[in-house]
Amino acid sequence: MRTKSLLSLVVLIATLVLAACGPSGGGEVGGDQVLKIAVLAPLSGDVATFGESTRDGILLAFKEWNAKGGVLGMQIEAIVEDSQCAAESAVSAANKVINQDGVKFIIGEVCSSASIPVTEIAMNKGVLQISPTSTNPMVTVAEDGSTKDLIFRACFIDPFQGKVAAAFALNELNAKTAAVLLDQGNDYVRGLAEFFRDAFEAGGGEVVVWETYTGDDSDFSAILTKVKDAAPDVLYMPDYYSTVNLQAAQAREMGITAAFLGGDGWDSADLDREALAGGYHTNHYSSDDPRDVVQEWVVNYQAEYGTIPDALATLAYDAAYMLLQGIEKAGKADPAAVADAMEQLEYDVVSGQSYYDEQHNPVKPAVILQVTLEGTKFITTIAP
Ligand code: PHE
Repeated sequence: MRTKSLLSLVVLIATLVLAACGPSGGGEVGGDQVLKIAVLAPLSGDVATFGESTRDGILLAFKEWNAKGGVLGMQIEAIVEDSQCAAESAVSAANKVINQDGVKFIIGEVCSSASIPVTEIAMNKGVLQISPTSTNPMVTVAEDGSTKDLIFRACFIDPFQGKVAAAFALNELNAKTAAVLLDQGNDYVRGLAEFFRDAFEAGGGEVVVWETYTGDDSDFSAILTKVKDAAPDVLYMPDYYSTVNLQAAQAREMGITAAFLGGDGWDSADLDREALAGGYHTNHYSSDDPRDVVQEWVVNYQAEYGTIPDALATLAYDAAYMLLQGIEKAGKADPAAVADAMEQLEYDVVSGQSYYDEQHNPVKPAVILQVTLEGTKFITTIAP
C-alpha cells in the first residue's frame, strides 16, 4: 500500500515536471542541446533594409558564439520571422515563436510601433525581449511609469536623440526656426518630433511649421507649401528612409532651401542620397569611428556579407551579445534570472560602452552623420 502510493506520487511529480517544461525553447537535436532565440524584424515592405541588416547582425553574433561553444553549452538557433515594422504582423510573429517554437527570448522588433505591442505579449508569457533599435521610451516603460521587468533595448532613447538633433541645429547650424513634419500614427516618428520640438524651443528656437500626415501619404506638396512659405532654417523629418526619400525629393523640387535634418530612421542603403545630400541625421554609430572594436567589426561584417554594417546591423549584433552575456552570467536560460543579470552587467559593445539605467535603457552616446552623394560622413559624437 505504502509503496504503491509512493510510486503514484513519483509518477505525479514526473508528469508535473514534464508539463512545466514543454514547450521549452531548448531541446536536443542530434544529441546537442540547442537554445532557440527568436528574431523579429521587417524583412519585407517599406523598410526591408532594416530587417535584413538586423537579421545579418544577429546571425553573425550567433555564429561567433556557436564557434566558441555556444551559450551554457548550448548551440544557439535563430528563429527568424518577418514582422514588417507593423504592430499586427509583429504580434502574430511573437505569438508564433512563443506558442509554437517555445522560445523564451526574443530579439526585436526594429520599429517602436511594432516592439511596443510585442512587449505586452512577452511580459504576459514570461519571455525576455530585447529590441536592438526601438528608441521610443514606451518600449521599456509601462503606462503607469514602471519599468517592464523583462524588456530591454540596445539603443539610446528618443528624448536624448531629439535633444541631440535640436542642439546640433541651434549650435552648429545656427538655426533660429524649424519646420517639423510628422506621422502622428507612428510612435517613433511622433515621439521624436515632439522631443525635438521641446528641446529646440527650450534652447531658444522657434518651431514655425508643425504639420502631420499619415503612414500611407506619398504626396506631401500641401504641407511642403507651408514649409516653403515659412522659409525655416531647418526642416526636421523624423521618419524612416522610405518616407523621407519622398519628402526630400518633393521639397527640393519645390525649391525649399532649409537644411534637412532627421533621425536614425534615415539609416539605409536605400536612402535617396541625391535628394538628401548635405542633410544631417542623428545615429547610433559610425563605421568611421576609429575605435578598435568598431574597425574589427567592420572588417568581420564585410568579410561575411560584403557590405559595411549600418547602425541596425551593429545594434542587432550588440543586442545579441548583451542577451547572451546575460544568459551566461545568469547561469541558466531563465528569463527572470537573465533579466536580473542584464541589469547588473556593464557592456563593452561595438556601439559603445554602456550599462542599463532604471528603465532598462542603455546610457550611451549618439553620433551626427552628414549625407553625401557617396555615403555618409561622420561629423561628431555627443555624449549623454
Ligand atoms: N529607432 C527606430 C524606431 O524606434 C528604428 C530604427 C533604428 C531605424 C535605427 C533605423 C535605424 O522605430
